[in-house]
Amino acid sequence: MSAHDNTSAHNAPDRSANSALGRSRNPRVFLDLVGPAVRGLVLNRGRHSGSTKIPTHNDAQFVWDYERNRTDLAKLYEAAKRSQWNATTDLDWSIEVDPHRPDRELVPETWLPLCDIPQFRALPRHEQENHRLALVSWILSQFLHGEQGALYAACQVTEAVSWIDGKLYGSTQVVDEGRHIEVFHRYLDEKLGKIYRIDDNLYTVLDALMTDGRWDLKFLGMQIMVEGLALGAFGTLRQVTREPLLRELLKYVITDEARHVTFGVVALRDYYSGLPEHERREREDWAYEMTVLMRNRFLAHEFYDEYYGHVMSKRRWDQIVLNSAFMRRFRHTMFRRLIPNLRRISLLSDRVRRHYDRLGLLVYENGQAAPDMTTTQVLEEGDLPA
Ligand SMILES: [Fe+2]
Ligand SMILES: [Fe+2]
Repeated sequence: MSAHDNTSAHNAPDRSANSALGRSRNPRVFLDLVGPAVRGLVLNRGRHSGSTKIPTHNDAQFVWDYERNRTDLAKLYEAAKRSQWNATTDLDWSIEVDPHRPDRELVPETWLPLCDIPQFRALPRHEQENHRLALVSWILSQFLHGEQGALYAACQVTEAVSWIDGKLYGSTQVVDEGRHIEVFHRYLDEKLGKIYRIDDNLYTVLDALMTDGRWDLKFLGMQIMVEGLALGAFGTLRQVTREPLLRELLKYVITDEARHVTFGVVALRDYYSGLPEHERREREDWAYEMTVLMRNRFLAHEFYDEYYGHVMSKRRWDQIVLNSAFMRRFRHTMFRRLIPNLRRISLLSDRVRRHYDRLGLLVYENGQAAPDMTTTQVLEEGDLPA
């Protein structure tokens, strides 16, 4: 458990089970998000088998002068070219993953919410390990689906930005995200043997940023929020796992993700500080609504249906997960990256700080937003974020 576990964010009352859209009281933001919420949470579009079509509305911007005037993005592009890796040859796929080997534990039992469930504790050891494997598969499956969203969002921002340096850098992110899909899918398919469908809440978040026509909201939703969260989640998982292939795989992915978060901050920093106040305020409220949507929503209901649906109600399951140490760590991981980044892109004004303060989240505001990725090829052990 991290040193921050006693922060007020962890002790804040859990209001997530009843949280809904409209917390920011901004009707325009509510209208932006109600469509994705209906499609994701009511119509359950993410549960379609095979594939789902999400309509898009952004413009592709051609730049004919090819003027290279964004040195910060040019540096990031050079770093990305130096840091490319090949998932087929740079990872040792011959490593056998065995969830029953104690010296190569996928995750410690105490890291998951399962140890809070009496029915889990009553199971034989071997069966407990199978449950842990399935829950880790659920978590990694959400990473996989998030990577697919990141691939398409990267394509969208690459065509939508108006600086050629941003487009060149974006092209490297597209390759990175394709590789992330490759590694998470291969790991789930070959090593864990189990893949879960996308969580409805994650689907809602992806739908919201894919369908919005404004290029900056795609950066805000994907690079700042989803990838900021992923950067933290990958880091904590890497810290606790003793499975060597997963550790190595995450190290490479984390290095790429740190660049992507930096891309979002660099892209939005100047743009948001120059926006008219009413437009900046709308972005601020949008980010706050998304934060509340994402806050505790990863409740592993597909795992629950399979393993615990016959022994307890969903309400009871949600209570256990929401109040578990696992979920407290999840929130901590999410906000310690997100809040400093919101501050850096001018979306943490005094007006909205009060809302975050009520959720106990301002404790993170002066934290480190992301490692500097303009000089590093692969993050060293001490630099890997948690
Ligand atoms: Fe990724
Ligand atoms: Fe990414």
